[in-house]
Amino acid sequence: MRVLTVIGNRPQFVKAGAVSTRLREVHEEVLVHTGQHYDDELSTVFVGELGIPAPEVQLELGSGSNTEQTARMLAALGPLLDEQRPDVVLVYGDTNSTLAGGLAGAQAGIPVTHVEAGMRSFDRRMPEELNRVLTDHLSSLLLAPSTSAVENLRREAATGAVELVGDVMVDVALLVQPRARRDDAPLRAAGVDAGEYVVATAHRAGNVDEPRRLEELVELLLAVPDTVVLPLHPRTRARLEAAGLLDRLAAGVRLLPPVGYLAFTALLTRARAVLTDSGGVQKEAYLAGVPCVTLRDTTEWVETVRHGWNMLVDLDREAALAALGRTPPVQRPALYGEGDAGTRVVEALTRHPFLRAARSASP
Ligand code: UD1
Ligand code: UDP
Repeated sequence: MRVLTVIGNRPQFVKAGAVSTRLREVHEEVLVHTGQHYDDELSTVFVGELGIPAPEVQLELGSGSNTEQTARMLAALGPLLDEQRPDVVLVYGDTNSTLAGGLAGAQAGIPVTHVEAGMRSFDRRMPEELNRVLTDHLSSLLLAPSTSAVENLRREAATGAVELVGDVMVDVALLVQPRARRDDAPLRAAGVDAGEYVVATAHRAGNVDEPRRLEELVELLLAVPDTVVLPLHPRTRARLEAAGLLDRLAAGVRLLPPVGYLAFTALLTRARAVLTDSGGVQKEAYLAGVPCVTLRDTTEWVETVRHGWNMLVDLDREAALAALGRTPPVQRPALYGEGDAGTRVVEALTRHPFLRAARSASP
């Protein structure tokens, strides 16, 4: 069977890290990088670190508004699918690259498999929520990371086959975190000691694109009494520069360029707490047993909140400071699988009836 996988963003490199190598043991894969992320530190660094095969196709489509970027991807993916003729299109998560891959596949009559299906923030102002809902409803196979995701898909009467496989990011985190805990170099480079700093990330459009919200974010980060280490996403850097806030933030927060997965995991596992608006980082903090404070008022990873390890504070400074001061609970059950989601994705692809049909039809 021939699988064409579409990736394009930092978290999708991590997700492909759990699947691509295993997939290639049993099937043929064509990995397509849309080029939505193009800086080395958001893309190629992960290929080397996580043993992901180098993408066979680089579309180099770059940045743009959500609509423009998605349209450019669709225009490139249509002819590519005609040329490659895969049996299935595989997409991950909720970015513009996810929707473009899914829609191009469905329009070409190729079954689409969505990994990380069923996640919902129920906030349609987020481009990611639109991408998730649309991708789920055009996919034939919906591979969900949690029971709440399965319930969401059932409630929406999604027409694809739904399977609970766990979260592929967990596979990678469980593999890398023990090693990262012993790696002091990223802490030395940031000038911090284990347990004595907070690691932060922020890049959600809803937090950084509007100057008033961006300023609230800056004031919140500056109010944290601990040393804050913030590897700065390029979107956020650009918005801070445009708003004239970069120097103010740099005066009180340790700013780094985006770092690779191994360095970030070292910083995360030894932090006293995490402050983030990232989806992936909320889960990774939970797995590392580091309390998380999420700079949003919704999350798709609701179980981390229910189990007391994650608090949603939006950009409320006082709420964030209070949340940073709390003691985490003792229990930390496996919420998103045991680290075998990659294997289960490949098994589901191999077992699924539409794919068996594709295999028996191929010469
Ligand atoms: C995208 C995803 C988001 C995901 C994030 C992962 C969508 C709608 N958003 O957000 O869900 O959480 O990736 O990090 O798909 N830029 C660079 N270099 C790069 C890439 C981007 O400088 O390699 C800058 C450009 O100024 C660009 C901006 O960052 O305009 C935003 O990039 P974009 O890919 O549109 O969205 P992200 O904020 O990265
Ligand atoms: N990450 C990284 N370096 C950084 C910040 C994050 O490697 O400087 C990793 C992080 O460990 C997680 C992923 O990037 O695996 C999350 O990506 P991001 O926050 O960009 O996107 P989201 O998960 O919000 O879609």
